[in-house]
Amino acid sequence: MELNEIKNIIKNMTLEEKIYQLQQLTPEFFQNDIETKLTGPLQEMEIDKNVINNTGSILAAYDAKTIKNIQKEYLKNNRNKIPLLFMDDVIHGFKTIFPIPLGLACSWDIELVEKCASISAKEAAVSGIHVTFSPMVDLVRDPRWGRVMESTGEDPYLNSQFAKAFVKGYQGDNSFSDIFKIACCVKHFAGYGACEAGRDYNTVDISERFLYEFYLPSYKAAIDQGCEMVMSAFNLIDGIPTSANKKLFRDILRNEWGFKGVTISDWNAVEEILINGVAESKQDAAKKAIEAGIDIEMMSTNYANYLKNLVENKIIDESLIDEAVERILTLKNKLGLFENPYRTADEELEKKYHLCPEHRATAREAAANSMVLLKNDEVLPLKKDAKIALIGPYSDNKNILGRWSDRGDPENSITLKEGILSKITYKDNLIVEEGCKLNQKQYDTNDEQLLNNAFIACKEADVIILALGEDEDMTGEAASRADISIPDNQIRLAEKILEAGKPVILVLFNGRPLVLKWFNEKMSAILEAWFPGTEGGNAIADILFGDVNPSGKLTMSFPYNVGQIPVYYNSFNTGRPKIPGEDNKYTTCFLDIPNEPLYPFGYGLSYTRYKYSNLSLNKESFTYGENIIATVEIENIGNYSGFEIVQWYIRDIAGSVARPVKELKGFEKIFLKPGEKKKVEFVITEEKLKFYTIDMSYKAEKGRFKLFVGGNSVDLIEAEFKFI
Ligand code: GLC
Repeated sequence: MELNEIKNIIKNMTLEEKIYQLQQLTPEFFQNDIETKLTGPLQEMEIDKNVINNTGSILAAYDAKTIKNIQKEYLKNNRNKIPLLFMDDVIHGFKTIFPIPLGLACSWDIELVEKCASISAKEAAVSGIHVTFSPMVDLVRDPRWGRVMESTGEDPYLNSQFAKAFVKGYQGDNSFSDIFKIACCVKHFAGYGACEAGRDYNTVDISERFLYEFYLPSYKAAIDQGCEMVMSAFNLIDGIPTSANKKLFRDILRNEWGFKGVTISDWNAVEEILINGVAESKQDAAKKAIEAGIDIEMMSTNYANYLKNLVENKIIDESLIDEAVERILTLKNKLGLFENPYRTADEELEKKYHLCPEHRATAREAAANSMVLLKNDEVLPLKKDAKIALIGPYSDNKNILGRWSDRGDPENSITLKEGILSKITYKDNLIVEEGCKLNQKQYDTNDEQLLNNAFIACKEADVIILALGEDEDMTGEAASRADISIPDNQIRLAEKILEAGKPVILVLFNGRPLVLKWFNEKMSAILEAWFPGTEGGNAIADILFGDVNPSGKLTMSFPYNVGQIPVYYNSFNTGRPKIPGEDNKYTTCFLDIPNEPLYPFGYGLSYTRYKYSNLSLNKESFTYGENIIATVEIENIGNYSGFEIVQWYIRDIAGSVARPVKELKGFEKIFLKPGEKKKVEFVITEEKLKFYTIDMSYKAEKGRFKLFVGGNSVDLIEAEFKFI
């Protein structure tokens, strides 16, 4: 359909029909007994059948049969025959569930993440989904926040690469000619990850400079990749709820970045403009949101209830509504919904693609590449004929999908026990004991029995695998934790089994960096498995027995202590930097803990070791229009083949404003056999040196710089260069 045809449809719509096109509701409003619900539990939403028959989109419907039925019934009642748009939270998989995004990010594998997103899109498309509320690209520095699990970490450059990869995986070339591609919605615009104290929905107060320097790049990367939608966030920016923030949605998103797509509030976020105290009434909240440029209102109904009054009393111009409707109909048109309202929804295709072997194979590959080996006192990899005690609440647990995997079914998960059994030579060599409950708050006598059974099993074994972690519901939205350690009853289990005097390998199932100081001292090895998804058990076993050499690297620092938060690698030097090893208390430090995180950004071990040498620059300085080519040699000096993630960091020694002590500016994942050496190149360009200078102009400044390269953000070799 051409744009003029869309404009004609809008011309023929009544004001109410246009307003209701901006409403988004859940599928319950489209079931038979809606009349009773509207006069019953849903009365407070003050909407009627007319709203429902003209609603523009639905979230959280998720199978072909239901979606086709809703669409069919809806079109019978919709005067303008405008099809519904179906949206859903497809965050890290649909039926085949991949590791949580914070885990996927540790693969540093852009192509792999794009492939996971592409599979997610295909599985969602055949179930009738048109748009996913993903990628979540909020930069995070506070692991107390439960939603760090949805993020790709603490670095703006890396987050931007993943944002592009997710969008490309979901949308392909953005033409939607491929029926297995779906539109996507980047979120949460903007700065949600900076909620104070990591407490969800809490205040965000960051400078404009920090907003631009750290928090905005990943959203812009998604927009530049063609992301079709943007979702607001629950927080304030500069004292204004983002859903009422014209600077964010009109000045930056539309005017500076040229975004032409659809914007949507987060759930009830328009109503929360009132609760934040930035609106006098619900009508005022509706006014502020539509003026700020929020096109769709998710689940609250202030647009439906008050926009008509605002237009008829000339408080707002009808053109604000027309522009929102045009953007929504344009998206529906891009997806071909006017020609085929059912698009790819097809029960037979669901059977063909959901959880198919190829998708499971990718899930297994993604999970193994997402895991991070945090410690290994040469106990890994295990021999396949070892006598193993597998202990802990995650030893044989199917609930390893992680939050935001609602369309996945844990029944399809491969547990750690199942993964290990598929590897070992003698099945009787594996003894499995739960040892304690996962989310036990208080101890009771039954737990003593669990503990003793575990201890007995350990005494029989050569090696112990301890599978601990967070309950899935301890992470994700509305799951902030002030204490980010492993639950006490699981620590008690660990203490007990250590008495058996055998090496203990900790395998962690969690959705955030945890405080692991005690475990780092006591465990012989620690494998961070995150919530690894459908194929988790197989992927962990692939690593434990050496069929996959771990290569994951952290994208979010693990604090030494919760009191250290926020701790992140791209920090500022301050005027009194703490020099490791120097004993001077008059520096920026704590009396009782080190400044360094327990495990830093970019960190992860391998079964082999890599040696970096011969860092060289083809010249010592460059100017506008030129570049410098840096090269480094990496050699595999161990006994296993493996992937190494070569990381390039730059430090601007002096700028018109303070500059981080280092910033990731490039990385490359390379494969090396034992004894093999490779040269890796990195091109330093003016673009790599740009930042928001003292007048907020985005440019490079002349001066001295340092270049660092290594396998994490700490163990680096360096060189200097100048931009003149
Ligand atoms: C939630 C989340 C958002 C999600 C939306 C729809 O509150 O904040 O990330 O996409 O509602 O489920």
